[in-house]
Amino acid sequence: MARVALVTGGTRGIGRAIVERLSADGFKVAAGYSGNEAAAESLKQETGAMVIKGNVGNFADCQHAVKAVEAELGPIDILVNNAGITRDGVFHRMKSEQWSEVIRVNMDSLFNMTRQVIEGMRDRAWGRIINISSINGQKGQVGQTNYSAAKAGMIGFTKALALENAKKGVTVNCIAPGYIDTEMVQAVPEKVLEGIVAQIPVGRLGRGDEIADMVAFLAGERAGYVTGTTLSLNGGQYLVG
Ligand code: CAA
Repeated sequence: MARVALVTGGTRGIGRAIVERLSADGFKVAAGYSGNEAAAESLKQETGAMVIKGNVGNFADCQHAVKAVEAELGPIDILVNNAGITRDGVFHRMKSEQWSEVIRVNMDSLFNMTRQVIEGMRDRAWGRIINISSINGQKGQVGQTNYSAAKAGMIGFTKALALENAKKGVTVNCIAPGYIDTEMVQAVPEKVLEGIVAQIPVGRLGRGDEIADMVAFLAGERAGYVTGTTLSLNGGQYLVG
């Protein structure tokens, strides 16, 4: 029986690459999205993945999305908490909404989504929770106190949940990408981004499929001994700057 995966923020960026990869590997995949209908439709056409609309910052939306996916594809074996936003700005000018929107979407979503699936995974004694963090949660970034806090918080969440579920066949891990060639990164002012890329030892932005390879590994049967860890893919950027 093919395992069932749900990827939040799965119709664009890193999430889309993950959906493409897991679909190609034979998983039954659902992609969550919040509003871009065109991207959702094109993903559906391209991969055959189920698409499900909702706001990961809202508990009731998540409950509804998980029920819909389970009704169509079966119980969720793999949850990829990937949906995320930026509202960059230096802290001394940051508005309360910039802070709370990022915390809600990037961090409250961990509770809202994971809470829906964890009991089922424990009952079935198999599960994979994969959280997409960021290099900026590991080392900090000017203009991202909100995002860095949420992404660092994700690492703590991962460790605690991994401990709680280790004996239940449920692994919980983070992936911390560096700067990946997505719309989110392309939105960084050009001059700033040029400076960032110049610092990356490998000399380029990362690709979504490089993150997806790591997700496919963690989602697999052979990764049962990997839990509570953070896999970093950043072209060596963590080592410099
Ligand atoms: N250290 C300390 N302070 C710095 C600094 C540095 N290296 N660089 C800039 N600053 C300060 C300046 O002193 C200045 O402060 P004052 O206004 O008090 O003088 C302020 O930052 C810069 O103000 P500006 O008016 O020049 O710039 P801004 O406010 O319009 O924009 C910014 C600042 C939001 C940080 C902008 O440079 C930016 O967007 N940077 C990129 C942030 C980034 O990398 N985001 C990642 C998005 S992609 C992503 O998040 C995916 C992922 O996981 C990697």
